[in-house]
Order: sequence, then structure tokens, then C-alpha cells
Amino acid sequence: MADIKTEIDYGPLTFLIGKWEGHKGEDLAPEPDGEENNPYYETIVFEAIGDVTNAESQILVALHYRQIVKRKSDDKVFHDETGYWMWDAGNDIIMHSLTIPRAVALLAGGHARKEGQAIVYEVAAKRDDPDWGIVQSPFMQRKANTTAFTHTITLTGDELRYRETTMLDIYGRSFEHTDQNILTRQR
Ligand code: HEM
Repeated sequence: MADIKTEIDYGPLTFLIGKWEGHKGEDLAPEPDGEENNPYYETIVFEAIGDVTNAESQILVALHYRQIVKRKSDDKVFHDETGYWMWDAGNDIIMHSLTIPRAVALLAGGHARKEGQAIVYEVAAKRDDPDWGIVQSPFMQRKANTTAFTHTITLTGDELRYRETTMLDIYGRSFEHTDQNILTRQR
């Protein structure tokens, strides 16, 4: 694993800290008459931001992240995402909050586990889920409703692979919007 030293114990999140770059992005997105494939490249920066105490009893450690994604075809940013990854050590729960400028935000929950040399982070959220939910503007609720989200990161040393699935009700059907990439830690 990468040699990352912090004063606070970020537990399984420790290994995410840093700047990552990847050029093998594959996006499958909805179109009115079908779907589009968008090869992409991106950077993700995870920054350790400290701990917080909730209700004087729950301690969370948190990373802030920023993800900037560009289409290979025109080098333009077509996805801009930010949020936090949090670890509740007492209950061993991983939480991922994200916001995108389509007026959609969510809080996904799950766990991190070891798999051989890798750490696998798996979180999920669902519309109307009382614990891990999705909020979206009235327009998006009507026209491009996000009904579920799953995100799996598999981190092995300086390599980060992710796959996320965003279920959308759009253009009168249910669409599986997927994104995946392989990133390398920048030194
Ligand atoms: C690397 C990650 C992602 C990329 C590259 C991406 C890219 C895209 C693209 C190309 C579209 C088609 C519409 C357009 O051309 O603007 C789209 C639609 C959409 N995406 Fe994503 N997306 C990503 C992740 C997400 C996530 C995490 C969410 C929410 C949890 C999300 C929610 C949506 C929604 C609601 C739409 C429907 C809006 C529309 O097509 O009019 N996306 N995305």
C-alpha cells in the first residue's frame, strides 16, 4: 500500500488521499433515442480535512474530493462532482456524499473491506431510502429522476478502479447510466 502518514487515523479512507489521474473512462449516458458512449479522462483529488463529532457521540473522519471529467472527443469538462467520503469508525460505516450541478445530491452508505491486496469500498443510495437517500430538483424529479446509485472503488496500491451505476427514469424509460475508469496516483 502507499505510504501515507496522517496525524488523524482515516482508517480505510487513508489510502484514497492524494491526486489521481485516469485516461480509460467509459461513460454510458441516456439520449432521447437511445444512448451515447463517451470515452473520457479525469482527475480526482481526495484531501484529508479532519474529524467531526456529531451529538457528542459519533466521530467521523472525512475526506473532501473533487472530480473533474473531460470528454476525449473535445477535451471539455462534461462532469464536475464534489463531496465527502466519511468513515464512522465506531460502527465501521463508510459514507459518500456527492453533489453534481444538475441539481442532484445524494448520501450513499456502505462498507470498506479487504480483498487480497486490495481495499474495496462499496456504497449505495436509493430514492426514498430512509437512510441513504437522493435529493433532486422538482424538474429532475419529473424529467430525469435518479432512482438508485451504486459505487464501487477497488484500490490496489497506486491504482484506483471504480464503477458507478446511476439508475435514471428518463425519456419514458428506465436507464442504467454507468461510468468506470482506472486511475493512477500522482506523485
Ligand atoms: C464520471 C461520471 C459521470 C459522467 C462522465 C456523466 C456523464 C453524463 C452524460 C454525458 C449525460 C448525458 C447528458 C449530457 O450529455 O449532458 C449524463 C446524464 C445524467 N447524469 Fe451523469 N455522468 C456521471 C455521473 C453521474 C452521477 C454520479 C450522477 C448522479 C448520481 C449522474 C446523474 C445524471 C443525470 C440525472 C443525468 C440525466 C440528465 C440528462 O441526460 O439530461 N451522473 N451524465
